[in-house]
Amino acid sequence: MSPPKKNRIGFFYRRLIAVVAINVLPLLVLSGLLYSYIMSDYKSNLIALMNNQIMLLATTSESALLFDDAEAGERVLSTLELNETIQYTQIYNADNQLFAQYRHPEMINDTVIEHFDKAVEFKNNNIYLNYKIMKNGEYLGLIVMSASTEGLAAQKDHLLLISVLTLLGSFILASLLNWTLQKRLNTPIRDLISLVHYVTKHKRYHKRLATDQNNEFGDIIAWVNTMLNTMELHENERKASSAKIIQASKLATLGEMATSVAHELNQPLNIIRMAAENCRRKVSTGTADTEYLYGKLSRIEQQTARAAAIIDHMRMFGRKAEEDPAPVDPRKVVTNSLNLMGEQLRLAGIKLVTELAEDCPFVLGHTIQLEQVLLNLLTNARDAIVQREGEAKITLRVFFDDEGVHICTEDTGGGIPEEILPRIFEPFFTTKEMGKGTGLGLSVGYGIIRDMNGTIVVENIDNGARFKILLPGVRSISKIKPHFS
Ligand SMILES: Nc1ncnc2c1ncn2[C@@H]1O[C@H](COP(=O)(O)OP(=O)(O)OP(=O)(O)O)[C@@H](O)[C@H]1O
Ligand SMILES: [Mg+2]
Repeated sequence: MSPPKKNRIGFFYRRLIAVVAINVLPLLVLSGLLYSYIMSDYKSNLIALMNNQIMLLATTSESALLFDDAEAGERVLSTLELNETIQYTQIYNADNQLFAQYRHPEMINDTVIEHFDKAVEFKNNNIYLNYKIMKNGEYLGLIVMSASTEGLAAQKDHLLLISVLTLLGSFILASLLNWTLQKRLNTPIRDLISLVHYVTKHKRYHKRLATDQNNEFGDIIAWVNTMLNTMELHENERKASSAKIIQASKLATLGEMATSVAHELNQPLNIIRMAAENCRRKVSTGTADTEYLYGKLSRIEQQTARAAAIIDHMRMFGRKAEEDPAPVDPRKVVTNSLNLMGEQLRLAGIKLVTELAEDCPFVLGHTIQLEQVLLNLLTNARDAIVQREGEAKITLRVFFDDEGVHICTEDTGGGIPEEILPRIFEPFFTTKEMGKGTGLGLSVGYGIIRDMNGTIVVENIDNGARFKILLPGVRSISKIKPHFS
């Protein structure tokens, strides 16, 4: 089982988000405060400046208004030319008639001059001020003054640029720091992940991690190494005892098969004996020609080779399994098992049906061990079938699909009673009489298949039991044509 990976945000991004949040948020707040401070400061300065101008204008334009001297009024207003920010100023007399006006030289002539009731008004980058000229309680007229706040907009842009640059700088700095930190953390994490992955996938515990880090990671790695030491020790102990059990069960199977092998050997021996007898008879009567003798001797040679092959296989089967698993052709395993058991099944009157896929991937393991599993399944099937009347048939299938290589046996032995079904893979569980079964067959088979990273399951079918083995396939495809004797 591999860890879930969906919708995962790694440490790198989490830390980046945290660093950015810590950096950017205060900066944003600070920029906001600075912005509002600068804005209000700028506005109040501008208003104070305009007020000073207005007050000055009000005093100097009083007499012009009293004497209705518009020229004097214009003269008064012309002093505003010195002030760049003032856009225009108008003086109205007591009858609200335009008395005098000043426009900034750069201001377009037909610009509409807006009037507001309020003393101060901000609109479209402009500030508008109204001031009533009073003399001894008498209303003399009104001064309307407008100044551009474009400088404010420029400052706004300036401030925005500074804020954005500061934020960007802080973001880049945070990312750089985060990246450096991540690089230091990444190596041990990556090593750790690939080690755990290796251990999970191969179930081998010999690898260790090296570290020069004198920090929490160094501690973790040291503890992981210690854990692997313990696991390797346990695994070695488990392997040793499991090898002993496998060997014991195999020898029991060998004992079981003795009758079957005797039959298998009997056949070539009979043929050899008959051939030898015929030769002797022909020689004694003087009727043996070379061609006849040659034919008989070849037959003797073939049958001796067959007998030797059976004995060889028995010897190999009795041997302990070699250390490293190797690619195994599952169909070869089936044919080997049938070479050993076929005769016995035929003698028991059991029909054998085999369906082997044309091309089939190899599986990783030990030929002899997989054979041991199959031989036990066939023996169990035979034992179940011979106990009852009716159809006697064993079907063996080897095929592969996306899941892997499947090896299935089906029998017509009536199936396994529901109450013992959960127990049949337990070591020493048997329903067979003393001396007939050790109860190790399926439990050892289960261990062998598990060590090959596969599964073995059982189910009852119509008239018997079905065992299904699923093994991961390795790339090479077996193209050997199955052959049965
Ligand atoms: N095909 C089958 N049909 C019916 N029962 C079965 C079948 N295969 C296994 N069993 C039951 O499961 C039990 C355990 O099988 P297992 O192969 O582990 O041990 P065994 O055959 O009894 O002994 P051993 O295999 O060590 O000679 C059997 O005793 C039998 O009751
Ligand atoms: Mg058995």
